[in-house]
Amino acid sequence: MPDLIIRLPDDFHVHLRQGPAMAAYAARSAAHFGRFLVMPNVVPPPVSGAGVSDYRDSVRRAIAASGHGAVPLASFKLVPGMGRDAVLGCAAAGAVAGKYYPAGATTNSSDGVPEPGAVAEELRAMEDAGLVLSIHGEDPDSPILEREAAFLPVVDGIVGGYPRLRIVLEHLSTVAAVDAVLDWPDRVAATVTAHHLSFTIDDLAGGGLDSGFFCKPLLKTARDREALVAAAVSGSPRFFFGSDSAPHPPAAKAAGAAGSYSAPVAMSLLAAAFEEAGALDRLEGFVSGAGARFYGLETNGGRLALRREPWVVPAIIDGVASLAAGRTLSWAASRA
Ligand code: DOR
Ligand code: ZN
Repeated sequence: MPDLIIRLPDDFHVHLRQGPAMAAYAARSAAHFGRFLVMPNVVPPPVSGAGVSDYRDSVRRAIAASGHGAVPLASFKLVPGMGRDAVLGCAAAGAVAGKYYPAGATTNSSDGVPEPGAVAEELRAMEDAGLVLSIHGEDPDSPILEREAAFLPVVDGIVGGYPRLRIVLEHLSTVAAVDAVLDWPDRVAATVTAHHLSFTIDDLAGGGLDSGFFCKPLLKTARDREALVAAAVSGSPRFFFGSDSAPHPPAAKAAGAAGSYSAPVAMSLLAAAFEEAGALDRLEGFVSGAGARFYGLETNGGRLALRREPWVVPAIIDGVASLAAGRTLSWAASRA
């Protein structure tokens, strides 16, 4: 008997990569999530209607091979010079979001945005088309622990400059970002990951270095984590789940790649975090309700079963160094 059954969740931020490895990552996400918003930091990036369709087709094929019914939501990468027509073409192809990567902020982002003025025409087109602007909110030129806070004024400028634009600030990691989101109007929301809700910089580097916890934005302090938990369990529709699951093969991790493969453990971590906060009854709203509402989607029809059942996270899952490897998690999840 499951200890908890919830509507099938959505993951509003996932990296499924490309090529042969995608099949395993897509199957892993489809095991627990009814829909997932697939990030566009692949090479070449989807920056046109055709690019969006092609990349989504490859994801659909990978999901179909998994045997799970799941729906990929498409995004495009916002790049300077792409132009209004390309943005409208992405919207016509079914993209629901355009992703703003500050140039150089993370994996495959050197072609990203140097400053918002470089994509003014594209942001206006997104506003007109009703697309969501998804933002990686870090200033790559600031010290690593200050990058998120340093970028908040840039987001503030976009919020003020495009009064109809709907915005998601991705993977919040600090008190400052939580406070900023609450200060902005309702058309601005945020995703929170399972790892930023569950871990701190001490899990990454407090003992021996565990690169499975190395991601951008970096895990922060206990105080930051507490603010993220408070936001996630508050029931506010402004905060919802995005895993930022970002698989890298062991050799890439060893070479310093940022990204945590969280899809296999995310639902287990979330159940534990919400339980610890005395808010298990709010889990469904966070993973299966608020994000769908923000993106204008119906909630999923299926169900996810969660059981209090300890399991040890393997070092490698799907050929990838996994988040929380070797830790014993207290919850297990499967489709009901
Ligand atoms: O740690 C990260 N890895 N953060 C990101 O924003 C991107 C991701 C990736 O694609 O590897
Ligand atoms: Zn990401």
